Amino acid sequence: MSITKESELAGMKKISEIVGLTLKLMREHAKVGMSTKELDEYGGEILKSYGAKSAPYETYKFPGYSCICVNEEVAHGIPSKTKILKEGDLVNIDVSAELDGFWSDNGGSFVLGNDIHNHQPLVDASKDILQKAIQRIKGGVKIADIGHVIETEAKKSGFKVIKNLAGHGVGRSLHEKPENILNYRVRTNFERFKKNTTVAIETFISTKSNNVVELKDGWTLVGNKGGFVTQHEHTILVTDKAPVILTSANEIWN
Ligand code: CO
Ligand code: CO
Repeated sequence: MSITKESELAGMKKISEIVGLTLKLMREHAKVGMSTKELDEYGGEILKSYGAKSAPYETYKFPGYSCICVNEEVAHGIPSKTKILKEGDLVNIDVSAELDGFWSDNGGSFVLGNDIHNHQPLVDASKDILQKAIQRIKGGVKIADIGHVIETEAKKSGFKVIKNLAGHGVGRSLHEKPENILNYRVRTNFERFKKNTTVAIETFISTKSNNVVELKDGWTLVGNKGGFVTQHEHTILVTDKAPVILTSANEIWN
């Protein structure tokens, strides 16, 4: 959305802090032996305590408060009583919500407990790449150039990017224009970031796959060639200098 007055920025800051804090607390609450449903309900209670509503549920009737992916799942993982977290699992939590007509989105991947499957290099690459991409965003910068940064940095780290998932505008709804802030450069896309707009920037860094495909449950996305994928996401305010990281309360970079 385009921020035109102080009250709109205040509304975006408030919901962003709530989703950021919820993500952080969920990450800290995740334990070996816990089901993803239990973790989701914990996050759902936090959102409710602030009067915030789950964005995936409100927008798409998603069966959960947040999306929780484990191991080969990339996005839109459905919280489940039968999905029990194990030592060394690669977990992704994505929390988005609405309050007072303002929407914010954030997410992050992490290794649960001891990194017995050596997922940490992929997690670290994803965090670093998101940081490098966001640092370069300001009003007037081409969206395609940020895609180029993400893809180039992924290659440098020995990884790939997922091409059919993307960051997006956010604010007055969960997904708004610009709709495709991709993880690679589309040479024919001349669209630019605009000052005083809020956007969700997200990385999808991958070991093998370059696209995602939907499972039969109608929600869960997995890689087309297997392997693992990490995602990190912040909602930011674009300015003419460094962006303001609205969801910094998630502490995904700490
Ligand atoms: Co998003
Ligand atoms: Co998200």
